[in-house]
Amino acid sequence: MLKTLESHNEPIKLVQITDCHLEEQFGGDLLGMDTDFSLRQVLDLLKQERSDNQLVLATGDISNRGAVAAYQRFKQAVSDLSIPYLWVKGNHDILANMESVVGSDETLHKIVHIGRWQIILLNSTIDGEVGGHLPDNELTFLANTLSQYSDRPTLIFMHHHLVPIGSKWLDQQLVDNAQLFFQIIDQHDTVKGVICGHVHQEFNQQRNHVALYSSPSTCIQFKPKSDKFCLDKKMPGYRWFELNLNGTFNTGVVRVPEQDFNVDFNATKGY
Ligand SMILES: [Fe+2]
Repeated sequence: MLKTLESHNEPIKLVQITDCHLEEQFGGDLLGMDTDFSLRQVLDLLKQERSDNQLVLATGDISNRGAVAAYQRFKQAVSDLSIPYLWVKGNHDILANMESVVGSDETLHKIVHIGRWQIILLNSTIDGEVGGHLPDNELTFLANTLSQYSDRPTLIFMHHHLVPIGSKWLDQQLVDNAQLFFQIIDQHDTVKGVICGHVHQEFNQQRNHVALYSSPSTCIQFKPKSDKFCLDKKMPGYRWFELNLNGTFNTGVVRVPEQDFNVDFNATKGY
């Protein structure tokens, strides 16, 4: 459950990649975009720009339909970075297939201690549902972990978003019991940030002492503030974090260079 990583560096450097939507076949596409190719572009950029990165967190929808072959290719691609990585499940993923590839003890690491920081990973999915929900056992785990390690500045990662981002169709898929989550973290000023995927766009909002973030997908991007499904012309990317010894952190998004990914921008559904 707990993975401990030594870190004598300051700041500690992490990267989030999310929503890769790999298909069973290599080179499969999502609305025209080859999602293996776009992931490769993002990982190449990551290697180039953040060679001293210490940990990768993949926040779900790694595959588009849960295919074992998709997880195998993802594992291979991320292993090339030669640093530890952890996955959480998204609504498109199939946990048993993820575990069959990565090994259950790796996917089951839900707490990482790195230097004096703590990372907590939560599963916000319910099988068969697109929208988010935090089951009682995840909430209990969160409350217990925050109480047990009350001296560690903490970032929490999960797939779904917890607050509206101003896009009607995506805001119907919010974690539907987010208020229970906030009741817990409101009691712990060690929680510094909560980070999600799912919405395929960059977003941030401050809530009391906690910064909330979402991040670009490694494939297609959704148009911010759109009431209906609509693709954005922004490029795929990743989010980086630098965690300071004093409990503060910096973060930012980096996107691959402008290029034509052959995306069907007229698509009105298909996700
Ligand atoms: Fe998702």
